[in-house]
Amino acid sequence: MRKKIVAGNWKMNTTVPEGVELAKAVKEKSAAVPAGIGLIVAVPFTHIVPVSEVLKGSRVGLSAENCADKEKGAYTGEVSVDMLVSAGCNYTILGHSERRQYYGETDEKLVAKTRLALDAGLGVILCVGENLSQREAGNHFKVVTEQIENVLFNFTAEDLSKIIVAYEPVWAIGTGKTATSDQAEEIHACIRKVIAGKFGEKAADDVTILYGGSCKPANAKELFACPDIDGGLIGGAALKADDFIQIALSY
Ligand code: 13P
Repeated sequence: MRKKIVAGNWKMNTTVPEGVELAKAVKEKSAAVPAGIGLIVAVPFTHIVPVSEVLKGSRVGLSAENCADKEKGAYTGEVSVDMLVSAGCNYTILGHSERRQYYGETDEKLVAKTRLALDAGLGVILCVGENLSQREAGNHFKVVTEQIENVLFNFTAEDLSKIIVAYEPVWAIGTGKTATSDQAEEIHACIRKVIAGKFGEKAADDVTILYGGSCKPANAKELFACPDIDGGLIGGAALKADDFIQIALSY
């Protein structure tokens, strides 16, 4: 059975004290969310240690937003998977479109990062998604299929059980423009089909596929009602504990 998950991606927002307060509020309000729905917050590196203290013993999982593609050593400014685990992380986001777009994240680097993360015991939230020109050219299925093939096809079905996929159409991120539930569902179904072709029906049926891109309390219910949408990766709306929890209550 695949898990339903609502994850917040705080991106480069909040100071440490603000982040600690937000985490406290999410933890407190998480009691209202049915136990079958997983909750995760992905926070900046500086926030991981204090937020892990806040979330200790709670149901809210803790994720990083990225990790290094090397194990350790002379890589100034990078943060390794072992550092993340020792700081209290359970997951890391990888391949977010903002990293692909602004920081040269390639599928090749994502394979290395995913291998390191899984070997260190971190779950991976792997993001895929097309940009506006790719969608307008009608290439969205092709782009997303290739992203899945280029990264996930390097792993085993067992690895896949520790990977959450997030479909985030770049044109819907932070723009207020949400994909319609039909647009999101058809890509989610495509991702599941591509995964089934490589790893089998069971693995495809078990993989959690989140939607991300201007998901908010007003549209979460319709998106989450789609058969292949298993939750959300929430940006802006995750910065308010009430909105984040409201989205999780939309199931
Ligand atoms: P928004 O919800 O702000 O559009 O961001 C989505 C996202 O990028 C989550 O990773």
